[in-house]
Amino acid sequence: MRNWTPGKIRALKGKRKFATVTCYDATSASILETLGSDTFPLVLVGDSLGNTMQGHDTALPVTVDDIIYHTRCVGRILRNSLLLSDLPFGSYQANDDDGFRAAIRIIKEGGADAVKLEGGERCLALVRRLVEAGIPVCGHLGLTPQSCLAMGFRVQARDEQAAERLIEEAKLLEAAGCFALVVECIPSALGAKVAAALSIPVIGIGAGADTDAQILVWQDLLGLNQNKLAKFVRRFGNLGEVAQTALTDYATAVENGTYPAPEESYA
Ligand code: KIV
Repeated sequence: MRNWTPGKIRALKGKRKFATVTCYDATSASILETLGSDTFPLVLVGDSLGNTMQGHDTALPVTVDDIIYHTRCVGRILRNSLLLSDLPFGSYQANDDDGFRAAIRIIKEGGADAVKLEGGERCLALVRRLVEAGIPVCGHLGLTPQSCLAMGFRVQARDEQAAERLIEEAKLLEAAGCFALVVECIPSALGAKVAAALSIPVIGIGAGADTDAQILVWQDLLGLNQNKLAKFVRRFGNLGEVAQTALTDYATAVENGTYPAPEESYA
């Protein structure tokens, strides 16, 4: 068992704002581990790995096997944060039996502590079933990237009716047993309303400053991503530039014969 459980994360509501982050590999997980147990209560193996790890334009091609593989990579190292993994596109949309089986595999074979799925009312029966089976579930509303073919990548629930519907679906997900809810790309005022309406932590991404927590993609926040970033992303570092400098220095040192030096060579 990792230090952070769904119960402990729920208990943060109203007590402490917290940051969460995606992670897809063991090296990155080992960096998180050096930060101690309190910095990131939750780490997500998101289906955004389709973009960050696999080079796709969307998360749609990601499979349950891909999620299991990356969850295992992170899980071998992660001891503190709760390990949350996405149910990928196609694994639960056709019917709840598929979704149930996919979640069981992600828990059993991947070693995740909880699963996340996208959508409101249509997911309620599956959420209830998973929770009854002892699988903690995190919801995801607003911009749901698995529906990008239909909704695009733009701000959601701008009008009053859509905003009310989102709040209603958020309440239904909480009632169905979700221990947390991600809301993505919605107006800040709505992010604040959803957080105020629920007693579980609401984790925002592009949902303003008044949600209970935030989540960002590893590559985006560390400046490892050369793509154009969404308005809500802040680059907290520029590791891409650091890597470019190191790689150029290495190539130059090999070319001019200064690497390896005698102290880096065996007698
Ligand atoms: O897949 C992902 O990375 C996500 C987060 C950005 C919320 O779902």
